[in-house]
Amino acid sequence: MQASHPIGVFDSGYGGLTVFKSIAARLPQYDYIYLGDNARAPYGNRTFETIHEYTLQCVEWFFEQGCPLVILACNTASAKALRTIQQNDLPRLAPDNRVLGVIRPTAEIIGNYTKTKQVGVLGTKGTVNSGSYRMEINHFFPDITVHQKSCPMWVPLVEYGEYDSPGADYFVQKYLEQLLAKEPDIDTIVLACTHYPLLMEKMKKYLPGNIQLVAQGDIVANSLADYLQRHPEMEQRLTKGGNISFYTTDNAKDFEEHATVFFGREVVATQLHL
Ligand code: DGL
Repeated sequence: MQASHPIGVFDSGYGGLTVFKSIAARLPQYDYIYLGDNARAPYGNRTFETIHEYTLQCVEWFFEQGCPLVILACNTASAKALRTIQQNDLPRLAPDNRVLGVIRPTAEIIGNYTKTKQVGVLGTKGTVNSGSYRMEINHFFPDITVHQKSCPMWVPLVEYGEYDSPGADYFVQKYLEQLLAKEPDIDTIVLACTHYPLLMEKMKKYLPGNIQLVAQGDIVANSLADYLQRHPEMEQRLTKGGNISFYTTDNAKDFEEHATVFFGREVVATQLHL
């Protein structure tokens, strides 16, 4: 039997399934392993050291499963652990493997959306405090001003299934008003957290019609397709059986129940003890 070399997709929990949904739809031919580190989620408020330690441990697990390529679908992990993993850990662990995140693909194309050059970024405390979005966006578009706002209540609202309830309106409106108070000319808002696409309909209620909301799923999927085209040496290492396995570091049943909301279809998960 041929060994399997899937693409690894990582998140702190279920949220990354919103990104993975787009990846699996855009590139269905590859094999995939999704891992949610639910037992240690949320990552959003954790320190740099902790996020790096947890993320690296999961990346090493993916490598042990035969994944030559790992996508960090989690914004917080992309913001706080990716650079160190790419620069310090990969050369030592597996120099031919690659770990990619969700921030750069978004930063690369955000200039196509904004006319006013005033861009809002909504994310976890960790993502916002890291300054990664501002740095990456200004690398590609120095003329864009990035205004950030952390939204600590949004992840729990989504995880507890309250994203569609009247209770969510208060915090959606509050954080959006706080962002727009920083700069009323913002015309583009990046949903820089895996969970926020589920609040998109509510956000539209509280925003003027000229403001575009940018979710990352399709952007990351297109960027991955482009990456694989530009890197045949990686593309050829990946096995193409269309198989998907789901793992969680916490309860599998719980993961399966949430997955339907985030992934849009039923999944079977296996609990993993790291
Ligand atoms: N996946 C995280 C992100 O995209 C949100 C959940 C968490 O804080 O762990 O930032």
